[in-house]
Amino acid sequence: SSTPYLRVTPSMLKNQTGRKGKDAWMGLNGKVYNITPYAEFHPGGIPELLRGAGKDATKLFGEVHPWVNYDTMLSACLVGLLVDEPEGTE
Ligand code: HEM
Repeated sequence: SSTPYLRVTPSMLKNQTGRKGKDAWMGLNGKVYNITPYAEFHPGGIPELLRGAGKDATKLFGEVHPWVNYDTMLSACLVGLLVDEPEGTE
């Protein structure tokens, strides 16, 4: 059986910055994670982590610490897959 991943578009992701009472989500290599439960444990601090909130942070993450195994650390925080905006909505 396959896991029914939520398909997250960039416009959905953009609304998940950790502000307005909503959780912070982060796109990393085609997956989207809810980083809110992890935030207080981030060694670089919450503001630094939130630089990558609400967006595809793959490049930023790779610039800061490419050795960090976020996929294992955030496995319980997986929201879904980052997909393209539907045709005609961009
Ligand atoms: C450390 C920034 C996302 C895990 C750090 C540090 C910075 C930073 C500046 C260095 C702190 C220090 O040494 O004083 C960022 C930014 C992120 C991000 C800008 C957004 C893309 C994440 C995520 C995870 C993570 C998503 C894991 C789920 C860690 C770990 C360290 C660290 C484990 C310690 C690494 C080490 O010392 O080797 N981060 N971080 N970070 N961050 Fe992030």
